[in-house]
Amino acid sequence: MSSSTTSKMLTLIISAFAIVQITLAGDPDILTDFIAPNGTQVDGNFFTYTGFRALTVPNIQPSFFVALKASKKEFPALDGQSVSYAALMYPPGTINPPHTHPRSAELLFLVKGSLNVGFVDTTNKLFTQTLQPGDMFVFPKGLVHFQFNSNTTKSALAFSAFGSANAGTISIASTLFNSTIDDNVLALAFKTDVATVQTLKKGFSS
Ligand SMILES: *[C@@H]1O[C@H](CO)[C@@H](O)[C@H](O)[C@H]1NC(C)=O
Ligand SMILES: *[C@@H]1O[C@H](CO)[C@@H](O)[C@H](O)[C@H]1NC(C)=O
Ligand SMILES: *[C@@H]1O[C@H](CO)[C@@H](O)[C@H](O)[C@H]1NC(C)=O
Repeated sequence: MSSSTTSKMLTLIISAFAIVQITLAGDPDILTDFIAPNGTQVDGNFFTYTGFRALTVPNIQPSFFVALKASKKEFPALDGQSVSYAALMYPPGTINPPHTHPRSAELLFLVKGSLNVGFVDTTNKLFTQTLQPGDMFVFPKGLVHFQFNSNTTKSALAFSAFGSANAGTISIASTLFNSTIDDNVLALAFKTDVATVQTLKKGFSS
């Protein structure tokens, strides 16, 4: 075999593998219709989640950003189904701080108010948008993203769908400054001094 044929075959094998990877880009398939924890009585209630009824209370007005989740932890019937949901409430002037979901893309649908949203790709390019009610925005899997309700009088409400029963959330600021990573490591990483790192850490220790 000539070396160019070999390299063509290699390319083919690698692309075939990439396609398989794409088609498997969700939670692993299960071999049963659904998964119920041992001892659970399985009826309609098992497949029903009522945690979002909190949203139907008239005039609910939290004073800080609130994310209500319906993932595998809150709603065990999602185990193995590769889907989950979140309701996101943004009082005026609040943010959902920069974070990532390691196991899923996020498809956000804005119901009320307006939202500035954005994500940064792996080349550090920022993509932003201002959403109106009825708009959807997709945050690609694993990328750092945020939402900001910059309106100082009107709250915003959005729903997000995920392609994993347990998308996971890594909140950048709290991962770095509300963990026990050594101050010297953070000072070097942020090209600053230990005193500045300690000031940043203080904001999380209440
Ligand atoms: C559930 O029950 C089965 C059969 O009794 C047992 O083999 C299995 O280990 C249990 N699974 C868990 C997670 O407890
Ligand atoms: C905030 O929302 C109110 C009500 O929708 C709107 O009238 C106002 O223009 C908004 N303010 C800004 C700064 O966008
Ligand atoms: C910091 O971490 C502690 C312990 O994990 C947690 O209880 C607290 O809510 C966190 N603080 C903030 C501001 O995230």
